[in-house]
Amino acid sequence: REIVYYEEISSTNEEAKQLAREGCQEGLVVIADQQLLGKGRLGRNWSSPAGTGIWMSLVLRPPILPLQASTLTLVAGLSLCEAIEAVTGLEARIKWPNDIVVNGKKVCGILTEMSAELEGIKYVILGIGINVNTPHFPEDLPYASSLYLEGKQQYIRKDILKEFLMRFEKDYFTYLEVPTFQNFIQRYEAKCITLNKKVKILASSQEYVAYAKAITEEGMLKVVTEQGEEKIILAGEVSVR
Ligand code: BTN
Repeated sequence: REIVYYEEISSTNEEAKQLAREGCQEGLVVIADQQLLGKGRLGRNWSSPAGTGIWMSLVLRPPILPLQASTLTLVAGLSLCEAIEAVTGLEARIKWPNDIVVNGKKVCGILTEMSAELEGIKYVILGIGINVNTPHFPEDLPYASSLYLEGKQQYIRKDILKEFLMRFEKDYFTYLEVPTFQNFIQRYEAKCITLNKKVKILASSQEYVAYAKAITEEGMLKVVTEQGEEKIILAGEVSVR
């Protein structure tokens, strides 16, 4: 497997995209010690200081439809959650769709970007940020944390990286055999803190409260509204309360 390492880069996702456009092989990993312009979901930025975390992007070329990419992201989140738990012994959990939390605080995020044409996907970039040894976070980010802050000890980044890559490789091949979430639902539900809770759904024009019941084969969230109506939620903005 090819791994490209940078001491400093704007964003590993941007670099991975560039390499993907130039035709790099599937499985390429771009990793940096520090990102100057780390990107989060929803146009947010992702603080990526030197030496404290794992900032990486994987280039994949799965023969799937663009719509199926969100299930692939869920699979990566699951591998990541289990890898963190295996290495640190901390209770890592998943907040649907793919925030990894420890003690209710977010320690990792995934940002998936892709290029698709009518015939299918050209490449998928799975961007993963893990706050490993971050010593503190600004006060305006009360929901952010690191493995170090939750586990009260430092972890070796390479251990987590290795464990994740090994697990994800296996899960990715399973996924390619049947590119739905079907084979992962049980494992995912075991780690998911969103289920059996009241969740606040922030749809584009409305906001409502519902009860999260299950994860579907498409990786979507099945909820029941207070009026007893079943709804299927796409990976948008869902906040647990
Ligand atoms: C989120 O908002 O939860 C997703 C955060 C993703 C951050 C990672 S760090 C490596 C990769 N490169 C980026 O610029 N972002 C992702």
